[in-house]
Amino acid sequence: MKPLAIAFSKRTAWDTTETALAKALRELQQSGGPVLDLTASNPTRCGFNYDADSLLAPLANPSALDYDPNPRGMLHAREAICRYYAEHRASLDPEQIFLTTGTSEAYSFVFRMLCDSDDEVLIAQPSYPLFDFIAELDDVRLVPYPLIYDHGWQMDEQSIRQRITSRTRAIVLVNPNNPTGHFTKPWEREMLEGLSREHGLSLIIDEVFLDYSFDSSAAAPSFAQGEAGVLTFVLSGLSKVAGLPQMKAAWIACLGPQAERRQAQDRLEVIADTFLSMNAPVQWALPHWLATRAGIQNQIRARVRENLAALDEILAAQTLASRLALEGGWCAVLRIPSIHHDEKTAMALLAEGVSVHPGYFFGFLESGWLVISLLGLANDFRRGVLATLHHIEQESN
Ligand SMILES: Cc1ncc(COP(=O)(O)O)c(C=O)c1O
Repeated sequence: MKPLAIAFSKRTAWDTTETALAKALRELQQSGGPVLDLTASNPTRCGFNYDADSLLAPLANPSALDYDPNPRGMLHAREAICRYYAEHRASLDPEQIFLTTGTSEAYSFVFRMLCDSDDEVLIAQPSYPLFDFIAELDDVRLVPYPLIYDHGWQMDEQSIRQRITSRTRAIVLVNPNNPTGHFTKPWEREMLEGLSREHGLSLIIDEVFLDYSFDSSAAAPSFAQGEAGVLTFVLSGLSKVAGLPQMKAAWIACLGPQAERRQAQDRLEVIADTFLSMNAPVQWALPHWLATRAGIQNQIRARVRENLAALDEILAAQTLASRLALEGGWCAVLRIPSIHHDEKTAMALLAEGVSVHPGYFFGFLESGWLVISLLGLANDFRRGVLATLHHIEQESN
């Protein structure tokens, strides 16, 4: 008898063929050729000084030998997260916090709590392409709403309103957004809360880059601050806040009207209890990592500023490319002449040893956009930008 073929789920029927760009980058790296990497986003590989003894010592806390599972995460870790928010002028109770192994897991928990199969979640475009796979795995449909650029990025109420249907459950927003680097303004928060109240939606606010504002005069406002008028989930984690993506620690802060918030917390508790995904050593170490985050944050802020200043100096000497206004984050968006598809430009740059993100990767719809990371070593960054602009000049002649 001929054996029946194994049946897999439709949701995992992905085309996993490597893109031409990913293949070209891999081949270049394997050949040992030098790459000026303008996509570097892993802080542990950008030449920052991590205090190994201080960071690793708390992982050896003997208390971690005891297994004391708590679906929300250990109390002392959640109290440390409340202290982080207190420093952002937000008053939270530890019962509002759920620890997760990453912001990605946090998204997934919230999607599963709010959405049935084929329910819809609105997401900004352009934004970080993290959500597509999470949504697919959770059977949620993502509906993009456009951000408008006019001397700075902003939301457009009408575009969001037009996309709300009876299946819409939540609006996702990254504050400040990646890669556009703009913070949500008070009028936008009011508008989003109004729309959410009107249609019974929740807000999912990703604030992983909250601490990386270019305005050093005041801490940027978090959605955890003030009275949330609607059910709101603020997501963040150590990957950006403490520059420790490898430690896999993030959280969901639940806000909003008490009755709805309690219901959400009860449901989240069951989801979190099903996985109990946090490990003890990381939870014991988390308060120390949060308390000492200034060490890495100051280095990252200095690097990002230095690279942005170098970018502006180089851009000032030519007229073909420009950068969009930026308020925070680790990226810059470049407008370049729209001569070729951005993938072709990125491939041609790779052939010259420079790696950049084509705009479509972040959801820029037309050609003429490159996204570059401001995190890399200053010398490589400068050389990469000079090579990029030289290439653009050659192509335009
Ligand atoms: C906006 C945004 N959210 C979430 C993440 C992922 O965070 P985590 O490492 O906590 O899953 C990233 C990663 O770059 C990001 O850019």
